[in-house]
Amino acid sequence: IVSTNSAKVGPKLLVVSNRLPVTVTKDNSGAYHFNMSSGGLVSALKGVKSLMPFLWIGWPGTEIDPNERDYVRNKLREDYSCFPVFITDEQANLYYNGFCNDVLWPLFHYVPLPIVSSDGERKFDFKYWQAYSAANYRFAEAVLQVYQDGDYIWVQDYHLLLLPSLLRRRLRDVKIGFFLHIPFPTSEVYRIIPVRKELLQGVLAADLIGFHTYDYARHFLSVCTRILGLESSPKGVNYHSHFAHVGIFPIGIDPNTFHRALEDSNVQQRIQELHERFMGKKVLLGVDRLDYIKGVPHKLLALEWLLTKYSEWMHKVVLVQIAVPTRTEIEEYKKLSSQTNELVGRINGKFGTVDHSPIMFINQSLVFEELVALYTVADVAIVSSVRDGMNLVSYEFVMCQQANKGVLILSEFAGSAQSLSGAIRVNPWNIEELANAIYEAISMPRREREIKHWKLYRYVTTHTAEYWAKSFFQELDNVVKHRDELRLS
Ligand code: G6P
Repeated sequence: IVSTNSAKVGPKLLVVSNRLPVTVTKDNSGAYHFNMSSGGLVSALKGVKSLMPFLWIGWPGTEIDPNERDYVRNKLREDYSCFPVFITDEQANLYYNGFCNDVLWPLFHYVPLPIVSSDGERKFDFKYWQAYSAANYRFAEAVLQVYQDGDYIWVQDYHLLLLPSLLRRRLRDVKIGFFLHIPFPTSEVYRIIPVRKELLQGVLAADLIGFHTYDYARHFLSVCTRILGLESSPKGVNYHSHFAHVGIFPIGIDPNTFHRALEDSNVQQRIQELHERFMGKKVLLGVDRLDYIKGVPHKLLALEWLLTKYSEWMHKVVLVQIAVPTRTEIEEYKKLSSQTNELVGRINGKFGTVDHSPIMFINQSLVFEELVALYTVADVAIVSSVRDGMNLVSYEFVMCQQANKGVLILSEFAGSAQSLSGAIRVNPWNIEELANAIYEAISMPRREREIKHWKLYRYVTTHTAEYWAKSFFQELDNVVKHRDELRLS
């Protein structure tokens, strides 16, 4: 790995994540298209952009022909401050679909691995692990191409657990932060992973390791003690002569994006139309990627229970469920998709009439303006995740409820439940409890809704994405300065 960057212009922040915030696609005529996404991390990093120059390193989401890589690289760097990591589709399949999303994702969300998958192959396939290591190495190569002394590197999420150590081996004094966006499981689950030590050793090379909640940090510390026999304190872990600091930084959203959308006249008109469309009915809203961790079937079963037990609501409640397709090449996701379709069909068949269907199931993503309008007209949002690192849908709903003061039903298994005390907290595995929470929410007097909303709104508008990114970055800066002072003394 050789650094190809020579012109020095002061330190910059290198953010490294599996996906770039720009998706690159090629049309039939061979022309490339670059689309900027508006994901959570993009808005979170707006804040740190003001602190220092910034470059984002990641996978463009598709294989790029070797002859066209220079063009794509230059375009991304000049127009989007991005630097691509090129991975072939075959590698991506083993690394991203295989190790990341068919091994780490389920285990970190407490879903045990079957020994063999449906095709009779071993679920923990050594090929996956090799591809994961190779992909992390490619990310390291890309970082080293643009790295200059003094730069800060901020690695994101479970796709890149090995990256801190790959970088530390090359650059002893590098400043590395790592943030995990998903839960960190208890040691009794984490220890299942056949390469449990290697992953820990990879991430422990970071100077600061951040989690959304206290529980995730606690699990991580105890895993380091139990699996690697390392000394740890609530502040972090001693790993050889290096101290990896651990911190809690719950992520948030960018409230201004929502304020602006709500002021848009087209959005206001759409809100009006939706109000008319749903007149006389209570609107329950679910917005999820169609992932088994989101507990969508739990939500559907709770609605079925509600309509059975409280039949006076039968034609007066509608659940609008947005289920955005995701990771569709993985078996578990295909299974979930057909199970969900079946449940929706059954419940609509059982309670529907010519004039009314209790579930509007939208199996595609919506444009932002439409989503904001839906968040605004909903009376209740239901987040029924069976595990979820944070869940920002709960925050987004709150932002759009300044007029309506709708109620948030929030699973206790979502990271955001630790901060959002104005929500009705539920255990989604208890379908009856979830159904009763929906009943309570649709019957709640306005005054009580106002009090709950105010608590939520105050939290969401102060613990923003920008606040998250700045707090993490400042802490990284502190721990690195302290580290360097100790070395000098
Ligand atoms: C979670 C992960 C992110 C990931 C996102 C979407 O939020 O923490 O790292 O980008 O899911 O998943 P995808 O596989 O489409 O990137």
